[in-house]
Amino acid sequence: MKVPGDKSMTQRALILSALSGGESRISGLLPGADPRVTAGALRSLGVEIPELPADGSEIRVRGRGLRGLKEPAGALDLGNSGTGARLLLGVLSGQPLEAVVTGDSSLRSRPMDRVIEPLSAMGAEFEALEAEGRLPLRVRGGELKALEYETPVASAQVKSALLLAGLVGGVFVLLTEPGRSRDHTERMLRLAGVPVIGHSRGSGWRVELRDPPDALRPLDFHVPGDFSSAAYFLALGVLGGAGDELVIRDVGLNPTRTGLLPVLLRMGGTVEARRTDAGRGKGEPAGADEGEAAGELRALPSTLRGTEVGGGEVVGLIDEIPVVATLASRAEGETRITGAGELRVKETDRIRALTENLRAVGVEAEELADGLVVRGSDEPLEGRVRTFGDHRIAMAFGVLGALPGNTIEVDDPGIVEVSYPGFWEALRSAVVEGGGRPPRSPTSSGPGRRRGTEEANPVITIDGPAGSGKSTTAREVARKLGLRHLDSGALYRAVTFALLEAGLPPERWDDLSLEALQELPIELRPTGSGFDVAYRDRVLGAELRSPRVTEAASRAARIPAVRERLYGLQRAAGRAGGLVADGRDVGTVVFPHADVKVFLTADLQERARRRLLEREERDPTPDEIREEADRLRDRDRRDTDRAHSPLRRPEDALTVDTTDLSFEEQVDRIVQRVRALTAP
Ligand code: S3P
Repeated sequence: MKVPGDKSMTQRALILSALSGGESRISGLLPGADPRVTAGALRSLGVEIPELPADGSEIRVRGRGLRGLKEPAGALDLGNSGTGARLLLGVLSGQPLEAVVTGDSSLRSRPMDRVIEPLSAMGAEFEALEAEGRLPLRVRGGELKALEYETPVASAQVKSALLLAGLVGGVFVLLTEPGRSRDHTERMLRLAGVPVIGHSRGSGWRVELRDPPDALRPLDFHVPGDFSSAAYFLALGVLGGAGDELVIRDVGLNPTRTGLLPVLLRMGGTVEARRTDAGRGKGEPAGADEGEAAGELRALPSTLRGTEVGGGEVVGLIDEIPVVATLASRAEGETRITGAGELRVKETDRIRALTENLRAVGVEAEELADGLVVRGSDEPLEGRVRTFGDHRIAMAFGVLGALPGNTIEVDDPGIVEVSYPGFWEALRSAVVEGGGRPPRSPTSSGPGRRRGTEEANPVITIDGPAGSGKSTTAREVARKLGLRHLDSGALYRAVTFALLEAGLPPERWDDLSLEALQELPIELRPTGSGFDVAYRDRVLGAELRSPRVTEAASRAARIPAVRERLYGLQRAAGRAGGLVADGRDVGTVVFPHADVKVFLTADLQERARRRLLEREERDPTPDEIREEADRLRDRDRRDTDRAHSPLRRPEDALTVDTTDLSFEEQVDRIVQRVRALTAP
């Protein structure tokens, strides 16, 4: 298997390409939420960056030079991304402009004083707009001074922010950190022609940026898979959840990132890492490496014992502590993790989140000020965990829940998008390919997928006119079959919302180009039962039902470019199968090869009555029904007559007239049909 591109390297590749003096070619980028917000912020600073491809294919980015960024019109919203925010604060410090940097509630609660302090010493000005030392921050960049600085924490984000400030400011930077944090920035800077050297100093590490050049060489860089994402699968492999052997290819093996491997070996795990890149092997001069090591990881089922993790080794596996906790919960004896106080200021307080969640599923765990103690067991684990908006908590417990005998529900599975879009599908495949039973959906503790649909992973489409009850029916059919529900109506509403948010009045929507619409930051995030629709990293809910969105949505849905924009999203969601989609052209245009197609109809009066009932939550009067029926008749005409993907009954569809059927009856009829058609 492969895992998506490295999050840290993707962020850096985007930022350095933006600052370079020419056109960079970068591939393997992680299309996750964090890199997307960083790319978005860079676009607001005037850099043209195409949408990050879902398949890691190459993109080209033309840099604006070291000090050529444009003052942004609005605040730069870095969502959940600590790396994006801190590195950009460094870059902005040396630009002759003013900008506001903000993020989601998790990021706004994380400490920024660790970069504000040294960057202020270099000459940048910061103003905290809400709480001291936190985002949102107004930064005023300009001429910078050289810096010699000792960081209190070993943090690659701090180190990178200062190196980038030195680079754009053209000044000397000498930095000492108490441990050796990941060195992707240094390696990538060397590739771009910047002399950065590193060497050990006592138990810490020192980095020097001397004579920064006036321009960066464009990058030609491939981002390997993220070791931190691979770590969840290493755990699955050694815990016996993926058959006899699990192999992960094209993974980054930078030695400042792979600290989990010696810990795993100590616990008795059989894991192997093999470099396959053309880079230098052992004996390379520490501190002067260019490029990144990459290779293959292998994990075999193993019997694990507890261990102690602490001291200087923590920095090399700081993001893998949740994985260590997963492993520890299934190891014999006790695992003690100390020296990991930094975990308290990650996407959430990971020490607390791990301890509470381990207990919630039946594992004995104890919280320490700077770590935790976990007592392993082989009892079946069961319960519901809270991610607290942290992708790594979701994935660590996802792996635990995928092991035979365990039933773990994750409250917000969609959060994995931050660093690993497709995680749940990958987990399911790894388990099934290893000969295991498919894990239950992470959000449902009820029965998993039924036989028949389980093997076939069908795509089912339900089309029909307005008011035919497609959406509620599709949701219930999906639930009964253990499939995901894709509500295409919600997508049209999301575009409507996004256009209104962007301040574009509906009269101007007809002129929008597909390219402009592609820029709208709308995405579908798989959840256990369906998909969340997110806009700029915020999951949309009530916003989609607001009167102004409801009023304008059908107008948006008539615009060909809008429909085109959403086809790609819907098809990408359907690629893995296992979904029930509803809409007005899902069986004809979006999924013409769907496994089962259904067309719902009902007579006009009945559809009018149902719509009113849903909207008003009371029985409508005959007059109201008549008026609504007139509106629906017009709407039907517009939907059927429009030139672009009109409402049509797919030729191969099962037509279900629901006028005289109860809701349960129509759902049952469809479910039976699907079972008959997809049974093995
Ligand atoms: C990162 C550095 C680490 C890590 C984070 C990514 C980076 O944070 O936890 O996930 O890309 O530089 P700190 O620098 O805060 O330790």
